[in-house]
Amino acid sequence: MRVIRVSDYEELSLRSADLIASLIILKPDCVLGLATGGTPLGTYRDLIRLYREGRIDFSQVSSVNLDEYRGLKPNDPHSYRYFMDQNLFQNINIDPAHTFVPDGCESDPASACSKYDAIIDRFPLIDLQLLGLGGDGHIGFNEPSDCFIRRTHCVTLKEETIRANSRFFQDKAEVPHQAYTMGIADIMKASRILMIVSGSSKAAILRQVLEGPVTPAVPASVLHLHRNCTVIADEDALQCCDRLCKDSQFILP
Ligand code: PGA
Repeated sequence: MRVIRVSDYEELSLRSADLIASLIILKPDCVLGLATGGTPLGTYRDLIRLYREGRIDFSQVSSVNLDEYRGLKPNDPHSYRYFMDQNLFQNINIDPAHTFVPDGCESDPASACSKYDAIIDRFPLIDLQLLGLGGDGHIGFNEPSDCFIRRTHCVTLKEETIRANSRFFQDKAEVPHQAYTMGIADIMKASRILMIVSGSSKAAILRQVLEGPVTPAVPASVLHLHRNCTVIADEDALQCCDRLCKDSQFILP
């Protein structure tokens, strides 16, 4: 696992957008695994800027998103499909038919999950999977558990996740309690993983991820087992990692 230490959120966003842009330039028909939440917003803003400057072309790119709230329609402003349309897809030249998000409206959860697995399986691989880090260590909506769940599943969100995500809703009571998420095996099958972590509110959990054991109780800890995982984290997020090297880049065993 390679850790890149950056000064702040702006630098984090620039670095992660540059990394994704490099992949698109090298492999124009790449498959991007994309994430929602507050952290990737700056990355998407910078990717849109690079597109508008004529430096990247999304016309052959495909995307598969990590997760979606169960029960929300695609045009619901709180759905992750809506988030992606507003914050990225509508601002670049990606083909909307090549963008995939789990179907939050499918009434049968087992069917919603198997349909999303079938979509993932259509691609030979995900070239780069972008991840945020949940306050409880989740990636996608893979919440702390006693086992890693391999494929797409319906998850009941932890209280901490509902509380954290309530900032995007008028009222905490509006936050759906369930979501569909890509599983850990599909995340780990990506050729490259990029996790971005910003702010002091993530400092304690980032320390557990970077310094602690691999355990499903801290789902992001599984990334230690990936052969090509980069974490870009700012000073605030790294403030509890006092045992780690202070260099701007370092490799964890
Ligand atoms: P955040 O969420 O980017 O809004 O902090 C990260 C996550 O829950 O995956």
